[in-house]
Amino acid sequence: MKVLFVCLGNICRSPTAEGVFRRALEQAGLADEVEIDSCGVGSWHVGKAPDSRAQQVALCRGIDLSGLRARQLNVQDFAEFDYVLGMDQDNLRAICDLKPANSQAHVGLFLDFAGTPGAEVPDPYYGGDEGFENVLNMIEAASNGLIQHLKREH
Ligand code: 4NP
Repeated sequence: MKVLFVCLGNICRSPTAEGVFRRALEQAGLADEVEIDSCGVGSWHVGKAPDSRAQQVALCRGIDLSGLRARQLNVQDFAEFDYVLGMDQDNLRAICDLKPANSQAHVGLFLDFAGTPGAEVPDPYYGGDEGFENVLNMIEAASNGLIQHLKREH
């Protein structure tokens, strides 16, 4: 299984999802079964490390995001990944616009797996630190839900 997390810039939400979900997979003993990556629909931050605020709140929970580097979503991702999960409705629209008609990839919102279908992980970029904390809590809940889903379905 291959899961791709997608946000706008790939420096706040989706790298956080990648780090949190990687740890959740390790704790569930599934690290060898599921490959993960993250990317952004935009190109502004390509090559950059995650936002320092995202790194800081993740590190407070023992998750090191410092090695991640931003990249942009591309059409090949739809051949490579089984799940392509957006953080908000704008991301989802951009994903659907790029998705080839013959792609079998499951496309949806990450928070669908938190039991809150249609809900969004809000963009924390222009807010304060509490926004990043909120993002992390939502992502932890969705990560656990996604693990349960993958165990059930695959
Ligand atoms: P992300 O957050 O999509 O969670 O990585 C953002 C990062 C940068 C910008 C917007 C959102 N930006 O406008 O530069």
